[in-house]
Amino acid sequence: MTRSAPYQPLLLRILHSCSGILAITAIITGFLVYNTFDKRFGKIPIPKINPIQDIHGTAGLFFLLLLPALVIYSFHIGQRRLLQADSLQQLSQFNRPIWWVSLQRLANTLMLIASVLAVVSGRMMKEEWLPLGELNHIWYSFHLIAWLLMVFCLAIHLLMSAKVGGVPLLLSIISWKFRPEDSPKNWFSSLRSWWVNFPSNVKGEVGQVIANNLVLGIVEVFVLVGIVAAFLLPLFFAGGE
Ligand code: HEM
Ligand code: HEM
Repeated sequence: MTRSAPYQPLLLRILHSCSGILAITAIITGFLVYNTFDKRFGKIPIPKINPIQDIHGTAGLFFLLLLPALVIYSFHIGQRRLLQADSLQQLSQFNRPIWWVSLQRLANTLMLIASVLAVVSGRMMKEEWLPLGELNHIWYSFHLIAWLLMVFCLAIHLLMSAKVGGVPLLLSIISWKFRPEDSPKNWFSSLRSWWVNFPSNVKGEVGQVIANNLVLGIVEVFVLVGIVAAFLLPLFFAGGE
């Protein structure tokens, strides 16, 4: 039996590629910040890079700016690929194909949760702390844990995508080819028709979430509140902890 090649919507590919590159840059430059100023849990012998905090802060900030778009896409247009109402129950069907698919959807969802923890704790960090040797701030501990979580979740995300769809699925998220009906020319008209029915669309969606997938609804609220907090909290707690 031949399987047709997996296809990813163009909008997802654009959002996902930009966020993915920024997240990986933040993970690497974050490690280099640690390797320059902290080194408590081990180090790799490479030269110190003094402006590394600025480079990392910039990558992190751009990642945060893009995150709301990826999140809104994933929870609405791409909802099918996140945690489903029956995913947790399917996780008991060990080693069956559906078990791997559920695990992959769980991994996709965890990527968004880990991202929120990283951006909130990152926003609460102060540039002055690490060069002064102040390594015991609570937000710094959270930020280090968030790094571990990002690395762990990314590994599971990649492994599960590879397990479920193999190399063709991994390549499909970075391919440049798109179908004519998926052209950016059509985005505006679909956005307009969605907007025309805005109130009933939202009511319908909220109803559907409550009826079908309450867990995902709760995760979405958590993620959205987290992103708003990442933008606003630093304005209220300028001193940091
Ligand atoms: C070992 C890992 C990491 C270390 C040591 C680290 C360190 C830091 C430091 C020192 C800052 C403050 C820099 C500044 O304000 O200019 C910061 C900010 C930030 N970090 Fe990290 N980070 C790490 C991993 C990550 C990861 C994995 C992400 C996200 C994917 C991330 C996202 C951010 C964000 C969003 C900011 C705020 C930037 C801003 O408001 O300008 N960090 N990080
Ligand atoms: C090397 C990096 C990455 C690769 C190769 C990759 C691969 C993939 C693939 C193949 C899919 C599609 C799954 C499917 O069609 O069933 C996917 C979906 C997804 N990825 Fe990634 N990923 C990467 C990094 C990331 C990062 C850093 C994040 C989070 C910031 C992320 C978040 C997501 C989310 C939320 C989805 C589901 C989207 C939806 O709901 O439609 N990925 N990824």
